[in-house]
Amino acid sequence: MDSFEFNKIAGAVLGILLFVMGIGIVADMIFAPPKVEVAGYELPGASEAPAASAGAAAPVVEPIAVRLASADPAKGAAGVKACLACHNFEKGQPNKVGPAMYGIVDRAKGAVAGFNYSAALKERAAKGEKWGYAELDGFIANPKAYMPGTAMAYAGLADAAKRADLVAYLRSLADTPAPLPQ
Ligand code: HEC
Repeated sequence: MDSFEFNKIAGAVLGILLFVMGIGIVADMIFAPPKVEVAGYELPGASEAPAASAGAAAPVVEPIAVRLASADPAKGAAGVKACLACHNFEKGQPNKVGPAMYGIVDRAKGAVAGFNYSAALKERAAKGEKWGYAELDGFIANPKAYMPGTAMAYAGLADAAKRADLVAYLRSLADTPAPLPQ
């Protein structure tokens, strides 16, 4: 075997190697595996938030039915000072800028005789709505948000516990106080 023949064989072998490598590169380009975003396996339950973080959630306001159980009507009687400019609370007292409050709990909305209610409140009255505990709590919290168009120019009482005290006091202003919510 002379050197010329050897070169021919070696060239053929090299050529085949190059060809095979080329096929590999082209095949990789065509059948590229999808990129893995997150390494590893997803374990069942691993994506659920740990129980401890639940305590970090925003404080939840208890419903008025729950708050009333620990409310203090005596504190409510003191808190009602903010309303006295416009409302009377004792039995038999007349309307002021706002209607008389005695017996307000569970009374029909807009029911005080001789008081000229706003169109917004008259609309609620026409629907037969009552001033239950939840309604009073919502109205006192933010009158304008609870009843857009109300004539009651009072900013609202944001403190949920103080509101419960106030509603407990309102409940006491009746010949027979309405039953507490179950
Ligand atoms: C600046 C005067 C003003 C203040 C302060 C005020 N109110 Fe009123 N309130 C009114 C007026 C006016 C109305 C009638 C609203 C309407 O017609 O839309 C009203 C209506 C109400 C009603 C509905 C009565 C009904 O017969 O339907 C309730 C309940 C009430 N007020 C509770 C309160 C409480 C409790 C406070 C104190 C936290 C308070 N208000 C403070 C003026 C006032």
